[in-house]
Amino acid sequence: MTPSPRPSESDIPVLVSDKESQHSTLPVPTGFEVIGRIVHWEATPSFTEAAALLNADCDVEPGQFLGVWHGNRGEPLLTIIQVANCREVNPNEDPELAVARDRLGLGTAYAREGISTRIFRLLEGPTVEELRFSGVADSCALSGPAAAVQRLVRAGDPVVLLSPEVIARTIGLLPDGDAGLEVGHVYGSPSLAAVMPPEIFQMHISVSGNPGKGKSYFLGVLMEEARKWNIPILLLDVNGEMADTARSVGGLVITLPNREQFGLSLSLITSPELIQITPNVQEGTVYAELIELAHERLKNASKGQHFAFTDLHKMIDEVAQQQDVKGSSLGIAHGRLRALEQDPIVGGNFNFIDQLVQNGLVVLDCRFLSLRQTRLIAAAGARELQRYGREMAQASARGDKTSDWFSVLMVDEAHQVAPNDENVVSSQVMFELARMGRHVRTGLVLSSQSPADLNSSVLKRTQTRFIFALEKDQIRAIQGVTADLDERLLAQLPKLPRGVCAVSGSSELVRHGFLMEVRPRETPVGGSTPKVFAGRSKASLKVKSGDSPSKKGA
Ligand SMILES: Nc1ncnc2c1ncn2[C@@H]1O[C@H](COP(=O)(O)OP(=O)(O)OP(=O)(O)O)[C@@H](O)[C@H]1O
Ligand SMILES: [Mg+2]
Repeated sequence: MTPSPRPSESDIPVLVSDKESQHSTLPVPTGFEVIGRIVHWEATPSFTEAAALLNADCDVEPGQFLGVWHGNRGEPLLTIIQVANCREVNPNEDPELAVARDRLGLGTAYAREGISTRIFRLLEGPTVEELRFSGVADSCALSGPAAAVQRLVRAGDPVVLLSPEVIARTIGLLPDGDAGLEVGHVYGSPSLAAVMPPEIFQMHISVSGNPGKGKSYFLGVLMEEARKWNIPILLLDVNGEMADTARSVGGLVITLPNREQFGLSLSLITSPELIQITPNVQEGTVYAELIELAHERLKNASKGQHFAFTDLHKMIDEVAQQQDVKGSSLGIAHGRLRALEQDPIVGGNFNFIDQLVQNGLVVLDCRFLSLRQTRLIAAAGARELQRYGREMAQASARGDKTSDWFSVLMVDEAHQVAPNDENVVSSQVMFELARMGRHVRTGLVLSSQSPADLNSSVLKRTQTRFIFALEKDQIRAIQGVTADLDERLLAQLPKLPRGVCAVSGSSELVRHGFLMEVRPRETPVGGSTPKVFAGRSKASLKVKSGDSPSKKGA
């Protein structure tokens, strides 16, 4: 049989021509480096999730923003995706093969990624938003605002690195440090400063993370930025870590108790609070009602002005006379109040607002106080800021241009002051402030190592959140407030260097969650762990012979 002649190239039917397979209707705009392409991996791409094959010489960082170019379909569109995870596939290192090579003395004798047909790396992550471009190739420019993801990215689409400007725009960062709060840089992009809008103070901020992860350090950074904007700050320093920092910028630091410098005026305490903090007072008794009634009358009469214990004693006598209360109840009421006068934090006339105006920064170091005392101060301070802020807001509404007041209340270890217990007065006051804050010109900055124990209604109202490495159960507790932060990123935080946190927001101020490396502090850092082992050395135990286990057993 004679062999049939070999068909010429032109005889072979062509199903897909090179021209059709190139998909190159719109080339990637000049300046965008291609680092990989979208692949079909585990039910992706979808509207919400995509995976990409990385070029062998390219790398990505957790949280990094990348673009997917839609030019294959003639659309000048970039879908932003965020790297949530990256994985390597290398069947050569399957344990059985690895052991076999090892035993045969073959080492790692196989081609590396980029040459091997079996080794590759995949990145995966959520889609974030879409950016539209106008023009082509080197005259391509962003056109219009970013939009929600509406086009499906497709397998084969090129994945590109984004310029710092595009990343900043995606997150909602400001281009100029002087226009905002310069708190760090975008993790993995040292040249991209994280300049956040100063309005984040108005919408309340929370900082959470495990012990030692850098919350207090970062609180210092926020304090520095707030002072640069001349925002008065009242800082409740539960662990007494901010003293050096505050003094270095001319702040007033009062380590409590300190009768000369600090005492809560009776006018700043509510009547039920007074009953709660007066020693050995039983609610519902005649003497308790005497104290409460007298205090309430004085508060109404003084209209927020200070009054002292002597005024209260006098008013108790007046009320007792009117109500015909005699004998032991009157004596007990005076006696119990005298016991309260011994409390070093109650009964002075500390003026929160005057001190803030004079010093700009007031730090109340509460480390030597009881929790009850700290909460009392927190409630009183928060109420005062709220009262004054409301007055200033009203003045501003009347057209008074001098009333541009805005202050910030910072609380470290905030779960102690605003616990998840609605019956704690300071939690109620913090909630009120969190709810009303921006209308009453007071911002809250709350830091906590245990956000699960922080009042959840308060936490929900902090619209910008800085989350350092957290335990799994704590992450679960704050899941509702992490906005669009991918949980795979939160899970990676413990493995990232100290000072790296995730930033998320539920307002337009932080458009998408991102990872941030906190900038170095300009002020001294206090609160290091006391070096209690520095002057000690280890010695062997001197076990008394009669008590030694060997004798006992014998
Ligand atoms: N970004 C950073 N750069 C340099 N040092 C840092 C950074 N963050 C934290 N540190 C250092 O790490 C230590 C612990 O930080 P910090 O006190 O802020 O932790 P914390 O989260 O407030 O812990 P705790 O919950 O126990 O109060 C401090 O000595 C601090 O100076
Ligand atoms: Mg701390």
